[in-house]
Amino acid sequence: MSLILGIESTCDETAAAVVADGPRVLASVVATHALHARYRGVVPEIASRAHIDSILPVLIETLAASAIKLADIDAIAVANRPGLVGSLLVGVTAAKTLAWSLAKPLIPVDHVHAHLYSVTLTPGLFPSPCTQRESQGEGSSGLSPAPPQVIFPAVGLVCSGGHTSLFHLRSWLDIDLIGATIDDAVGEAYDKVAAILELGYPGGPIIDTLAQSGDPRAVQFPRTLLERESLDFSFSGLKTAVLYHVRGHKGREKRADSLTPADIANVAASFQAACVDVLIEKIRRAAHRCNARTVVIGGGVSANSGLRRALSRFDIPVLFPPLQYCTDNAAMSAALGHVLLQANVTATLDLEAQPSSQFAI
Ligand code: KG4
Ligand code: ZN
Repeated sequence: MSLILGIESTCDETAAAVVADGPRVLASVVATHALHARYRGVVPEIASRAHIDSILPVLIETLAASAIKLADIDAIAVANRPGLVGSLLVGVTAAKTLAWSLAKPLIPVDHVHAHLYSVTLTPGLFPSPCTQRESQGEGSSGLSPAPPQVIFPAVGLVCSGGHTSLFHLRSWLDIDLIGATIDDAVGEAYDKVAAILELGYPGGPIIDTLAQSGDPRAVQFPRTLLERESLDFSFSGLKTAVLYHVRGHKGREKRADSLTPADIANVAASFQAACVDVLIEKIRRAAHRCNARTVVIGGGVSANSGLRRALSRFDIPVLFPPLQYCTDNAAMSAALGHVLLQANVTATLDLEAQPSSQFAI
């Protein structure tokens, strides 16, 4: 059995996980720092300091939950890119220290690549506080379901607070970036629309819930598709359209608190419908261009109920991660670390934190 310890600290979550033989998650702990809610977004300096406070408790909790001893770990995988450099440095330093002191391989993981790979994750078999918590749903029998099969070529979409990118996957190790947002990421648009509506942070889950009781046809928000063949995204116009709808144009200012709960639900549902329409049209274009046999979707917005519902009727199979692995976690990095280790992709102790992804057009 191959046991990999994964570490994630790219943005505001400090996370660690232990996986067995790739996608089988034995333990996954994520510390989310509520401090950012006050600022309606991530404050890099606060994030770095919170990672320093959390990294050791998170690692200790993860190992205890996995019932695996540190000495039995075969390799350490760490997300060393892309992200906030001050945040990344904390995870990278912890991973290097563990790899050096245990004399085990250090595996560098691209966080965006890990979001794609998260569709393979399955909660593990071993009883532990963490896996018990995770096993409500798919794993409640205590048995791991077989990992979903991704048939290549595939199209991948990473939709999160920091990314909205499309990929052509020929295998898990042969991937090209084929489209990306030219302004806001879709999750960022969710967070900003929630701020406009004064709903709290992060906005995605709140808007998703409110959208269930609203009318998606109540407000006709724009669907920005760019040129006919384009695989790029743009969400800033949609965000501005919501701002004008809620606050009014210059000269007739109003406030979000003048909206009724039904108005807010209608705005949420109409905004969500616009996002989902755009994401689906771009996936359709990419699948056609790549002759894809499967679609894989990861990142925080892959938890979205409207997106999941709409893609349940797509022409080729669409794979989503289990809900608990849509947002940032270390299980996806550890599992991808298994694939990378098999391909001899390891790093030396001079591994650096990199702000940008390895994927560029
Ligand atoms: O993947 P993630 O944890 O972090 C990044 O790598 O950016 O994604 C966080 C983003 C946030 O913008 C959050 O609002 C959004 O994912 N999100 C959602 C939902 N759950 C989280 N957006 C739409 N619907 C959801 N259910
Ligand atoms: Zn992420």
